[in-house]
Amino acid sequence: MDNNPDLKALALGATGVAALYLLIRNAFSGPKLNAVPVVGPSGSIPSYIGAFRYVFHAKEMFQEGYERYPSAMFRVAVVDRWSVLVSGKQLVEDIANAREEDLSFHQSTNEFLQTRYTLGRGCERDPYHPAVIRTSLTRNVGHRFPDVRDEIVQSFNDLVPVQGEDWLEIPGYDTMLQVICRTSNRFFVGLPLCRDPDYLALMNSVAMDVVVKAQLINFLPAFLRPTLGPLIASLNSNMRRAEKHLTPLVAERLKKMEEAGSKDWPGKPNDLISWLMDSAQGEELTLNALVQRVIFVNFAAIRTSTDTFVHLLFDLAAGPSFVQPLREEVETIVNEEGWTRASVGKMFKIDSFLRESQRMHGIGTQSLGRKIVKPGGFTFADGTTLPTGTYLHATTWSLHHDPELYPDPHVLDPFRFDKLRQAEEVGAAKYQAVTTSLDYLAFGHGVHACPGRHMAVIELKAIIAHIVLNYDIKLPNNEGRPANQYVASACLPHATAKVLFRKRKS
Ligand code: HEM
Repeated sequence: MDNNPDLKALALGATGVAALYLLIRNAFSGPKLNAVPVVGPSGSIPSYIGAFRYVFHAKEMFQEGYERYPSAMFRVAVVDRWSVLVSGKQLVEDIANAREEDLSFHQSTNEFLQTRYTLGRGCERDPYHPAVIRTSLTRNVGHRFPDVRDEIVQSFNDLVPVQGEDWLEIPGYDTMLQVICRTSNRFFVGLPLCRDPDYLALMNSVAMDVVVKAQLINFLPAFLRPTLGPLIASLNSNMRRAEKHLTPLVAERLKKMEEAGSKDWPGKPNDLISWLMDSAQGEELTLNALVQRVIFVNFAAIRTSTDTFVHLLFDLAAGPSFVQPLREEVETIVNEEGWTRASVGKMFKIDSFLRESQRMHGIGTQSLGRKIVKPGGFTFADGTTLPTGTYLHATTWSLHHDPELYPDPHVLDPFRFDKLRQAEEVGAAKYQAVTTSLDYLAFGHGVHACPGRHMAVIELKAIIAHIVLNYDIKLPNNEGRPANQYVASACLPHATAKVLFRKRKS
């Protein structure tokens, strides 16, 4: 926190607004959860103290619950409601495999993001894009890999312009945000748009903008949201800015589709806009709705990938001894096979390092966010029934630091998963970065497991491979790894820490 005054001011401001609001509400609303033990103070007034503790100490509260209630559930106060956390394989599996009609990912996300106001009603009403990402987008990760690789090289040339033998100090987070936004958008919308500074600035800022505005809207009583929500959210200005860039592309494709009388026409580009158009129906197949959807996919992709990558970059910069084995692996594979999706897929040490960094830091101390929507409540395999309207999560950070599952859990062992992979003859895929399991929730698990993880893993592996092959990196003054910032359930990499790059010497 100390290292980011803006974030601290924002969090304190938000806490103050919440405090005022909460003090004029006399009790936590929502379903009755008396049977679920509380971590933090209970009772209507003391629970507010728990809610404030949650803002900066959610990780510690989750860990306390994980230790006190193993393979069970507990609840914590989260500003204006209770959140039930579950631990243990069976309960996690119950959440991961539940049908959307019983435990809703979308309702929980739409409420958290106030999607209607921040990203648009279409995105709230018709979540068709996860299927597009799971199918067309993922199928094209290999076909479009040459573009992704080209953009990685070009963006490093532009943003990390090392000269001679000199070290160059760069801001780790901001630089990697640019690299990832450019690279992802090379895949999504292609050249030249993926290098347009205004388009990139918009896509870079949209995630933070949506999350902050959504929290403000969430503090309002429900009856005020329809009036004040649109005024607080920046949907209209974001849309105007995005339309300026995307209208020419989308409008031309809608015209070609109409002329051809079919969604397939000669010369159709192979990118996100086309994949979305292939699936969109009715109102979603319009200019405005498609632009909204491109923003939504960027929202889901850019900050998640950047936060994950910056954690990994800091781990690499703080661990010079990790570099040589990674370099040898990348060099051997690239010399033999060049740069392809398949060759990156064979970089098992890089893969293990990414998975281990996600285990250690992840981007959230909880995952599998769901809301019980099943009428009459939801019954877990252990017989516990929780009422409709309850919010659920799994204790990801604690699971990932459980010594029974991960020996020496607080030690970053970049090759932990590669060693496990090599020790097994079959089923080694279970230790790879894209594979989710009941022990590994960085991408969620089950019905709603992140559909973009195949793209993200190949992209992030290709970027770290490019770094170890071409640069030496270190932290200024041999400082230790920049500290994470834990805000509510988020685990953010340090926002302003610098990293030094120079051309690889040996
Ligand atoms: C390293 C980067 C990423 C991380 C750590 C990440 C993490 C996650 C997590 C934890 C979930 C929730 C899963 C659950 O509750 O079971 C999720 C869902 C989702 N992610 Fe990702 N994600 C990443 C990259 C991406 C990318 C690149 C895209 C798009 C191309 C994407 C699109 C989505 C979508 C659309 C969902 C919602 C799935 C649904 O509605 O079923 N993510 N992601």
